[in-house]
Amino acid sequence: MNILITGALGYIGSHVAVKILKENHNLTLLDNLANSKISNLKKIEKISGKKTDFYKLDVRQESSIKKIIEKKNIEAIFHFAGLKSVKNSENYPQDYFDVNVNGSKSLLRAFEKGRAGKKIFIFSSSATIYGNPKLLPCKETHKEQPTNIYGKTKKGVEIFLKKKAAKGNWKIISLRYFNPIGSHPSGLIGDNPKGKPENLLPAINKVAKGKEKELLIFGSDYPTFDGTAIRDYIHVEDLANGHLSALKYLAKKRKNVYDVFNLGTGRGHSVLEIVKNFEKVNKVEIPYKFFPKRKGDIAINYANVSKANSFLNWETKKSLDQMLKSTWLYEKNKTN
Ligand code: NAD
Ligand code: UD1
Repeated sequence: MNILITGALGYIGSHVAVKILKENHNLTLLDNLANSKISNLKKIEKISGKKTDFYKLDVRQESSIKKIIEKKNIEAIFHFAGLKSVKNSENYPQDYFDVNVNGSKSLLRAFEKGRAGKKIFIFSSSATIYGNPKLLPCKETHKEQPTNIYGKTKKGVEIFLKKKAAKGNWKIISLRYFNPIGSHPSGLIGDNPKGKPENLLPAINKVAKGKEKELLIFGSDYPTFDGTAIRDYIHVEDLANGHLSALKYLAKKRKNVYDVFNLGTGRGHSVLEIVKNFEKVNKVEIPYKFFPKRKGDIAINYANVSKANSFLNWETKKSLDQMLKSTWLYEKNKTN
């Protein structure tokens, strides 16, 4: 199949790119490098042993993207390009709506104008769309009530995609990721955000590497067994496999489709559990101190993954220890 990946040099896109290349599809990569480095391209090619075509383009450049879709006869798009900082989304809401919502709309228009036949589109959504879940484990049928602008942009795109798939020749899936962590076994690609990390594992990595003195744990009196917040951490390799399963599922469909799937492990772990296990499996110390809760944080979320298990024929394989080892492997090797 001829496939385009947007946001392909980022954390999740690069892992999916490697898997797709292994399956011998023809792959075109696109990224504007807003949150990634061009060196990731060489790493993707090194791991997969294959050359790819890369375009440094903004996802909102509709006419250029339409031309690429026509030239390469693109049949499927994985859309990862977007802005993902919850904090920045509150400070720069316009930018977030523009890149995440208008960017997705513009990409869909380019795809529609550039290809007449069946179009497969797989979108990176987020568990943040549920807000503070009332029922756990959280199912796809749970009400969508995001509490931050970032989550609202994901909801905006999902609403648009559902409408789009109602007519025309569209097969669309939104994948709602829980908390992706870990890296490729080669240690070459991983989560490498520009600037100060906001997510837990990149923050732990900085402490393990001695770049930060201690980890700040946000909140010690949540209604959980140890007082720290609980999340569903999923290995990025398992997450990437979920994308291939979604592609196979859509490729078989004859009629229009729009559907959503949670991608998580179905198990929750507290912040303290993550810190203690990271120390144990990687034999490093993570000094920490408790800090007030982060604005907008929730106590507990973990996924009900039975829908993806049965319809996508997908399940996670990696243990928490494997996730934490591979998270550190990448950081340890990283030189930039
Ligand atoms: P990332 O920042 O590592 O990757 C996103 C990539 O998109 C980057 O390489 C960036 O340069 C590129 N990009 C940003 N704006 C662009 C634009 N206007 N045009 C072209 N390229 C652009 O993030 P990630 O963790 O790989 O996330 C990928 C997708 O998954 C995002 O849409 C994100 O919102 C979503 N998601 C991520 C997580 C997570 O925890 N990592 C969780 C849920 C959902
Ligand atoms: C956050 C976003 C969510 C987004 C997800 C993936 C918020 C409110 N939510 O989810 O929208 O989809 O990232 O990008 O920001 N923690 C610490 N110290 C740190 C960092 C984190 O204690 O330095 C804690 C957090 O308070 C949280 C847990 O670790 O309890 C996980 O945090 P994080 O990795 O940021 O993910 P989420 O908050 O689940």
